Amino acid sequence: MPSIRSSPAPSFWENQQLSPDSILLSDRVAVVTGAAQGIGKATAIALARFGADVAVCDRDAEGLADTVAQIEALGRGSCSAVMDVRDEDAVQAFLAQVKARFGTVHVLVNNAGGGFWSEFLAVNAKGENALVRENFGSVTHFLRATVPLMTEGGSIVNVTSVEGHRAGPGFAIYSAMKAAVANLTKSLSMEFASRMIRINCIAPDMIPTPGDAGLMTDSDAVGLPEVEAKSWPEEGSSWDCAAAVIFLASDLSRFITGSTVHIDGGTEAAGGWKVMKKGGFSL
Ligand SMILES: NC(=O)c1ccc[n+]([C@@H]2O[C@H](COP(=O)([O-])OP(=O)(O)OC[C@H]3O[C@@H](n4cnc5c(N)ncnc54)[C@H](O)[C@@H]3O)[C@@H](O)[C@H]2O)c1
Repeated sequence: MPSIRSSPAPSFWENQQLSPDSILLSDRVAVVTGAAQGIGKATAIALARFGADVAVCDRDAEGLADTVAQIEALGRGSCSAVMDVRDEDAVQAFLAQVKARFGTVHVLVNNAGGGFWSEFLAVNAKGENALVRENFGSVTHFLRATVPLMTEGGSIVNVTSVEGHRAGPGFAIYSAMKAAVANLTKSLSMEFASRMIRINCIAPDMIPTPGDAGLMTDSDAVGLPEVEAKSWPEEGSSWDCAAAVIFLASDLSRFITGSTVHIDGGTEAAGGWKVMKKGGFSL
């Protein structure tokens, strides 16, 4: 039965002064999936730089060991597991390891994910199942294993994609699963609110990473000569994603839940609009 809510508790900021220290994650415990390279690696290292102990997992042992070494070189604690995030038993075993080492979790970053280019009609049931487990099942496994270890003030960040907010031709199942995670995030923002655990998404577009390289086909790469590839004149970076995760993990965002931060230089906002090289805009 839903409880009858009394008047809301006073804001956190009635007893705390907003200051540069408010972004620090000192002595918090973070879990990052897919931390051997790319966005996950930058995020794990950034969390450690802002004061967190960071538990990491990935199926790439070598890249993961390097991430752990970088976290420890910052004077922060770490533990790690070489595993497949699609395997729920492995996820439960990893979180048991995190609990034994740190006792609790404050921040969860569901970053591991990916896909492959293929027309929808060429994706068989096995391929579809792999994409669903990779981009959706892994997230639900981690949520079920981690939320019971989180206390008030906990923050979850799911890494989705601009493709979850627009069409993704050639990546239809991947895009649908990223959209599913964005919607799941909204529902869970309500379910987890009584625990004072927040859940948000970041939705990147075209961040150069080892996984991103080579995903586009030749036909995608052919741009129109009169149109700028992007409206923002600079490339994004894994560090732009990490920066948004730090904000969403910290007390600075403690009244933000169920939202998506678009790390895309304006792609999602633009819709179909393009910047013309000669000046002006076109659909
Ligand atoms: N790079 C981009 O432009 C971009 C754009 C939109 C969304 N994303 C999303 O950001 C996240 C990170 O992407 P990235 O570009 O850094 O990718 P990446 O391939 O460079 O890195 C992903 C890491 O996750 C690990 N991983 C993937 N699946 C795994 C599994 N089943 N089990 C264990 N480890 C696994 C990989 O080994 C790798 O180390 C993904 O969820 C991706 O969908 C990236």
